[in-house]
Amino acid sequence: MAGTIRALMLEQGADKKVTSAIQEVAEDRLPAGEVTVKVDYSTVNYKDGMIVTTGGRLVRVWPHVGGIDLAGTVEKSDSPNFKPGDKVLVNGYRLGELFWGGYATKARLKAEHLVRVPKGISTRQAMAIGTAGYTSMLCVLALEKHGIRPADGEILVTGAAGGVGSVAIAILKKLGYQAVAATGRPEEADYLKGLGAASIIERKELTEAGEAPLLSERYAGVVDTVSGVMLAKALAQVKYRGAAAVCGLAAGVTFPGNIMPFILRGISMYGIDSVMLPMQPRQEAWDRLATDLPFDKLDAMTVEAGLGDVPQLAVDILKGKVRGRVVVDVNR
Ligand SMILES: NC(=O)c1ccc[n+]([C@@H]2O[C@H](COP(=O)([O-])OP(=O)(O)OC[C@H]3O[C@@H](n4cnc5c(N)ncnc54)[C@H](OP(=O)(O)O)[C@@H]3O)[C@@H](O)[C@H]2O)c1
Repeated sequence: MAGTIRALMLEQGADKKVTSAIQEVAEDRLPAGEVTVKVDYSTVNYKDGMIVTTGGRLVRVWPHVGGIDLAGTVEKSDSPNFKPGDKVLVNGYRLGELFWGGYATKARLKAEHLVRVPKGISTRQAMAIGTAGYTSMLCVLALEKHGIRPADGEILVTGAAGGVGSVAIAILKKLGYQAVAATGRPEEADYLKGLGAASIIERKELTEAGEAPLLSERYAGVVDTVSGVMLAKALAQVKYRGAAAVCGLAAGVTFPGNIMPFILRGISMYGIDSVMLPMQPRQEAWDRLATDLPFDKLDAMTVEAGLGDVPQLAVDILKGKVRGRVVVDVNR
């Protein structure tokens, strides 16, 4: 007979407010799937913040288990591709949105969504990276594939003290790039320099009003997690034939940009989607993380939490108060 699992259950009330509680849940309530995974760790990303606090218009069926990332060990498998004992992770593919996610001690999953945890990375490290860190790698890969090399000049990282920003800085440093960290938390300058930022600029330098369609050329590339005025001002400073990799919306979904950087400087903007990325480039990004992310820096940017801490962390991350990365031990 199936036992029970421990999960952070989310429920939406008649007033549309979402409440959460840790509950023992019958294992046979797990959704259909070929592979059952004993979850070790999950994490808290910006999107988790949205789902845990309001559902973020991403959750269709309640009650729900959130957590867009998980890593653990295969317990049972009906797929020839995975066997008990395999270390696996899932990020995105609508985990924690359409499917019950990582905030539980077990998950039942589609085999096609599973990524093998790269050699040399533990399940805890995989979740310290999580969707945020994997998205940082996708942004760096986009700039690399564009042809930007360390000698071409500085790379601007917006939302630098957040999860995507922190991991991007550590990777860029390891690859020899000069990362310029733009942050609204200047008190985190030592933290950002410790991760490898070559210099720090205050967020307000990129948010103060200004109508100029082009600014002086400064950056060979941009990793943008914020959008809004910051992105518009960043694009106006990208050097001739440079590029921006854009992944985030911490300042909102629109940006007041103009066409001039594109048609006078020939710059490019790469949209980064981590969620539905096919398996081959996804595995490539995870494999590159194993070699290009310095794990001492990952440790320095990561704090550990338990399942019961997730609701407060969800509120905090939406307010831009979480620094770096959080790894969630779902078994505590
Ligand atoms: N496209 C994708 O597939 C994908 C994947 C992962 C994440 N994302 C998106 O990327 C963004 C970052 O995710 P994350 O997990 O790194 O979140 P996070 O840890 O909360 O980092 C976001 C950072 O943005 C800055 N920020 C927050 N509010 C701001 C505002 N109003 N104006 C300007 N800057 C602001 C803060 O950095 P400072 O304090 O340093 O200024 C904050 O730490 C989110 O929008 C998320 O949805 C997208």
